[in-house]
Amino acid sequence: MNATQEKLKEQVQQALVAAFGADLAGVDPILVPASNPKFGDYQANVALSLSKKLGKQPRAIAGAIVEKLDVSEICEPPEIAGPGFINLKLKTAYLEAQLNGIQADPRLGVPAAKTPKREIVDFSSPNIAKEMHVGHLRSTIIGDSIARILEFQGHDVLRLNHVGDWGTQFGMLITHLRESDSENNSFWNSLYYEENNQPGFINSPSINIGDLVQFYREAKKKFDEDADFRERSRKAVVELQSNELSAKHAWFFLCEASRKEFQVIYKLLDIKLDERGESFYNPLLPGVVKDLEKSGLLVENQGAKCVFLEGFTNREGEPLPLIVQKSDGGYNYATTDLASLRYRIQQDQAKRIIYVTDAGQGNHFAQFFQVARKAGWIPDDVELVHVPFGLVLGEDGKKFKTRSGDTVRLRDLLDEAVSRAHTDLKTRLEKEERQETEEFINEVARVVGISAVKYADLSQNRTSNYIFSYDKMLDLKGNTAPYMLYVYARIYGISRKGDINFKELGNNAVLLQHETELALAKYLLQLDEVISSVEQDLLPNRLCEYLFELSQKFNQFYDRCPILQAEEPQRTSRLVLCDLTARTLKLGLSLLGIQVLERM
Ligand code: ARG
Repeated sequence: MNATQEKLKEQVQQALVAAFGADLAGVDPILVPASNPKFGDYQANVALSLSKKLGKQPRAIAGAIVEKLDVSEICEPPEIAGPGFINLKLKTAYLEAQLNGIQADPRLGVPAAKTPKREIVDFSSPNIAKEMHVGHLRSTIIGDSIARILEFQGHDVLRLNHVGDWGTQFGMLITHLRESDSENNSFWNSLYYEENNQPGFINSPSINIGDLVQFYREAKKKFDEDADFRERSRKAVVELQSNELSAKHAWFFLCEASRKEFQVIYKLLDIKLDERGESFYNPLLPGVVKDLEKSGLLVENQGAKCVFLEGFTNREGEPLPLIVQKSDGGYNYATTDLASLRYRIQQDQAKRIIYVTDAGQGNHFAQFFQVARKAGWIPDDVELVHVPFGLVLGEDGKKFKTRSGDTVRLRDLLDEAVSRAHTDLKTRLEKEERQETEEFINEVARVVGISAVKYADLSQNRTSNYIFSYDKMLDLKGNTAPYMLYVYARIYGISRKGDINFKELGNNAVLLQHETELALAKYLLQLDEVISSVEQDLLPNRLCEYLFELSQKFNQFYDRCPILQAEEPQRTSRLVLCDLTARTLKLGLSLLGIQVLERM
């Protein structure tokens, strides 16, 4: 609900009490946006719902409310319509004053959160030595946008990369690494520990493992085929767990190599993340099991320690256990998530913890949330939210793959988007007979390509699957990043043509006459509502829809109303509308992680 709607709601509530007494103080006036712009901007539907309770005709109730209703500052005189709707139409002078008011406000009228909280967004979270795939891309893009919105609202946000950097797979990786670098075996023992007990390298190891994914495949192959190798790998796991120096260094080396790969993607996407991988919670895992035992939830089942779940059953209808310690003593993904959850609540003091992963992990989250709740680890003021998203599909509606059927490397995917944007731009420049520097072309292509990928992802309701199409996401028409970037650049085109500095337009200049101006003005004032809805529901596609519609409303205004050719005072007023639209687009897009261009 935006500020205006909030104010009107209060007024109707007061009128209700004035007309029918304090009994009705808590009644919701059901103030909603008008179903049809013909009837104004808002309508209060409360009279209809009170008819039975008050034993009166709804129209009579509406009349009594209107008699006590004072909204003259905001609205034209209220009208009663149909069976008893109270219709409210915003005054033009009110809209003008609101726009004048936000002109000097860098937040464009969006209030910051009243009670800022510590919030954690757990996103991206790829796995060491494995491919960062399109699922991680979605998590990265959606998680970053959510984090940006919460930060803008004034929350204290921890952006956590829960990297998969621990587990038994490191046994085979370490062993394979040692054996591929056998001449240099002494190297792994010759390194030192830094003071904080983190491994570090004095010199870099000589080995270059190049393609990590290939390296993983090789290790896996040996592991599957060679029993001795398996045994050595098992030992390596034990060594790693007991902090044996050479194992720890090999592990660190592998993590560093992966990090470098991830960093390339984060840099391309302009993502900031604090890495706190699974290994970080390692020392806390035994405590999780011990405390579950203390709380009486732990059950031994075929040697494994587990907690039985409510609402989850196997095919035979028997309750399913969540295993927290395997029969060999090892811990798993869920144990680490339980440990991290406690840490985030106790040490980080988080009040909302948001996990951004594919919908396929829904059960995992529901299960360990349930166990943590049962164990009494979740205080009432802490909210746990799994933010699921659907699959990325190819244009054939099947799993997204390269033409040869391989999984798509994210780097290639992003490069391809930029390169296609580059080609499109060159064609357009040729058509328009424009000369631009290579530097300009590269920069525009980069921004357009990356924005297109991000926007295509964010503009879908995240819970559904979406079809990845370069052609669609790069289209200058439709609900795409290029379309909106183009509107932004068009506004800056106006300022260049008229030699206008938007920052130096006078104050109190807004004058709304044409219907497209009014429509644009009203829409500009709804930004606060959209942002607060995303802050709650964590659906960035709402913000995309808003920006798309705003762009369309601007284009309608631009088509119908001369701007630079208009007479004063209209000319300045229209330039203020241009400026406010551009700033709203820039702010909104920045919250999606998308950069704007003044020229493209
Ligand atoms: N590494 C996991 C994966 O690639 C995602 C981790 C999500 N975060 C969490 N706390 N479980 O699927």
